Formats: sequence, structure tokens, C-alpha cells
Amino acid sequence: MSDRINVLLIGSGGREHALAYGLNKSDKLGTLYAAPGNAGILQLAQKAEVSESDHQAVIDFCKAKEISFVVVGPEAPLVDGLSDSLRAAGLDVFGPSKEAAQLEGSKGYTKDLCAEFNIPTAAYARFDALDAALAYLDSNPAPIVIKADGLAAGKGVTVAMTQDEAIAAVKDCFDGAFGDAGAEVVIEAFLQGEEASLFALCDGKSALLFPSAQDHKAVGEGDTGPNTGGMGAYSPAPVMTADLTRQVMDSIIQPTLDGMASRGALFTGVLFLGLMITDKGPELIEYNVRFGDPECQTLMMRLESDLLELLLASARGELADKQARWSDDVVMNVVMAAKGYPGSYEKNTVIGDLSAAQDTEGVQIFHAGTALKDGALVATGGRVLNICARGSSVTEAQKRCYEAIDKLNWENGFCRRDIGWRAIAREAN
Ligand code: AMP
Ligand code: GLY
Repeated sequence: MSDRINVLLIGSGGREHALAYGLNKSDKLGTLYAAPGNAGILQLAQKAEVSESDHQAVIDFCKAKEISFVVVGPEAPLVDGLSDSLRAAGLDVFGPSKEAAQLEGSKGYTKDLCAEFNIPTAAYARFDALDAALAYLDSNPAPIVIKADGLAAGKGVTVAMTQDEAIAAVKDCFDGAFGDAGAEVVIEAFLQGEEASLFALCDGKSALLFPSAQDHKAVGEGDTGPNTGGMGAYSPAPVMTADLTRQVMDSIIQPTLDGMASRGALFTGVLFLGLMITDKGPELIEYNVRFGDPECQTLMMRLESDLLELLLASARGELADKQARWSDDVVMNVVMAAKGYPGSYEKNTVIGDLSAAQDTEGVQIFHAGTALKDGALVATGGRVLNICARGSSVTEAQKRCYEAIDKLNWENGFCRRDIGWRAIAREAN
């Protein structure tokens, strides 16, 4: 027919709804399919009845629907090698190979890469047995940081301020608290400073920096209580200055791309850096190999260039001459979660008045754990909705988010009321 491209999007979170929203604006998009999607994504995409873990079924689905490009949202299918299978079948894929996904899938892999290519990060050691790890703690006392090597849904890290906590964390890992992810342990020096994160679109050789975005991980106001996947975010984040960003590009991102290339494991997709801004400059805390959620939603609302073109250029090694245009608006995302999250919570509670909330000026709502049941919108996950708003300042964006939230009718939902508090305090000064 035309040169429009049919796309399959893998994932079901707010991040993927925002990617669907971005892709949907492209005039190069043919039909968008989603596996498994959520109630919001499925307003923009057709449901693909395939499981991401059955690689052959995904390939067969793509052939049947003439899909030539697959965008993988979450890390688990990447670490599982989905993109390798799809590429071997001749498809373009946004997201790294199984080996390159080790940058997120194995903390030890990343630390070894940093050591080999002089990338600034905390001093560390790797262990696969309890006794040696405990002996190391004897000579490297708390404060110290204990990390399960593998994917542990954000729960495998203990920042131990006392020796007892450090010993308990090491024992937990080897006792199987994180399953296979804790069979190997990384122990690393405690870094002090302000945390920041950064996203760079990569095509194996070059990187295109995205604007800064910052999330709030803790469930409680004032950044207190247990960690979650993220309770809110805003972009831009003032802590990442232009000068810091340049330093990170030169001392961390480019050496990582070059190091991966020299290992024969080109990194394509989005590199998400967790950084500590220390007295000595920015140091790498960790990599993720996919967009952050809820940060992605703020970036997608600010992006003015064609997302489909950018993601394809990343997949095809064609980013070198690409630019991206961004709105000057500030965008905030406030996550609505089910009461009890990140612990246990009720499912299938009904959410009302979403369209009234959506009609608030500057507001865009992205779904996370939602589904339609008998015509009603119900909550099916821990993080359920992302209430995003643009504004000319963090203060204005925040006001619009909470205005929209106050119109929602969802008894069983809650949100933090202070998203962006540090940036708002800066604006007030
Ligand atoms: P990670 O999953 O590696 O991002 O770690 C989770 C959180 O633990 C980070 O966001 C930091 O707040 C903290 N953290 C991780 N590594 C260190 C470190 N070496 N020093 C201080 N804090 C750390
Ligand atoms: N918001 C942090 C993450 O996606 O890992």
C-alpha cells in the first residue's frame, strides 16, 4: 500500500501507553498492535494475542500481520533474548540484544565493563559464596551497598548503614530472598551526593541524549517509606545541568557504547543511567536498558519529533545525524496506585470519572494496570494510572495534575501529594 509501518508494542504499563501515544502521532505508522497492552493502550492499538515469552509465536504473529518493527518496553523480555529472536527473523527491533541487556540483567557485568573501560563508578567486588562475601565486609565495613546481581524488580539493593544490616543483606541474598538473582552478589562502596538519571537513545555507535527526568521512588510523602517502581516524575530535572550532561556523555555513555562494541555486543535501544553526583563528578550507580516508568510518560509528552522515526533509527544504527525537538513545557506525572501498594492490594475495583479528569487543561492520562470489565474501567495492578500535565513551571504542572486527580472517582486509589517538591522549592526561591 504505502510506506507505512505496522508496529508491535510489547508491554502493559504506563510507559508503554506513553510509547503508544507517541507512535500514534507518527504519519509513518500503519497499524499498531500491542501485547498484552492495557485498557488505555488498546484504545490506540489492536490486541495481539501472543505471549512475549513464546518468541516463535511473536515472529509468526508479525509475519501474519505484516509487522516489520517491534518496540519492546520492559526489561524482562530483553534479558530473555526476545530481540535476538526477532532480529534473526528479519524484523527491526527497538531494544538491546540479550547480551547487551546484561547491562541491566547483571550488576556484575556492568561493574566489570566500568572497570575495563575506566567508567567512574563505586569500587566493588563480586561474590558467589557467603564466606568470602562476609570476609570482604570485615575489611570493608558499613556504610556499604549490597546488591543481588540479577533482576530483582528493584528490590535487590540494600544500602547498609550498619555492619549488622550489611551482614543480614548478604545472608538474605545467598539464602534465596531474590531467587536466582541473588546467587551472585556485588558489594560496592557507598557513594554520597545527589542522585540523578538520564536517558540516551543509542544505535550501537552513537547516542542521542533525551532531556532529564526525575522520578520519586518512595511510596510516602517526603520520599519516605518503602521503594516502589516510581510514584511520580517530572521533566526537566534541574539537577542535570548542561555541563554535567556533557561530562556524563564523555566519561560514561560514549565509553560504554565503545566498550560494548569492542565486546561485539552493540548497545541499541535506550540506555537509562542512574547517577550519583559526587564531589569527584558524576558516577554510575546502575544501568537500565529500557525507559524508566513513570519518567517515560513525561518525555513522550515533551517530544515534538516523530517517535517512530527515532526508535527505528536506533534499531537500524542510523541515529548519527538525527536530532529530536522537545517542548519547553514542564511535564509532571503523578502515579495513582491501588491502596496497599507496594504491598498487597485489592484488584478489580472500579474507577469512575476518568474522562472528567482527562478534560482538565494540559492533562493527559496514561493507563498502567487497567482493564475493561463489562464496560467498566477496573484496576488490575499496583500502579494503575498516570496523571500527567504540562505547564510553564513545575508548580503549574503539579497544580493541574492534582486538579485532575480530584475529579477522579476511585475509592481504592491513592497518590503522593508532593511530587516534584524539591523542584517546586527551587522555583519558590
Ligand atoms: P539501584 O537498583 O542499583 O539503582 O539501587 C537502588 C538505589 O540504591 C539507588 O537509587 C541509590 O539510592 C542506592 N544506591 C545504589 N548504589 C549505591 C551506592 N554505591 N552508594 C549509595 N547509594 C546507592
Ligand atoms: N522509575 C524507575 C524505573 O523505571 O526503573
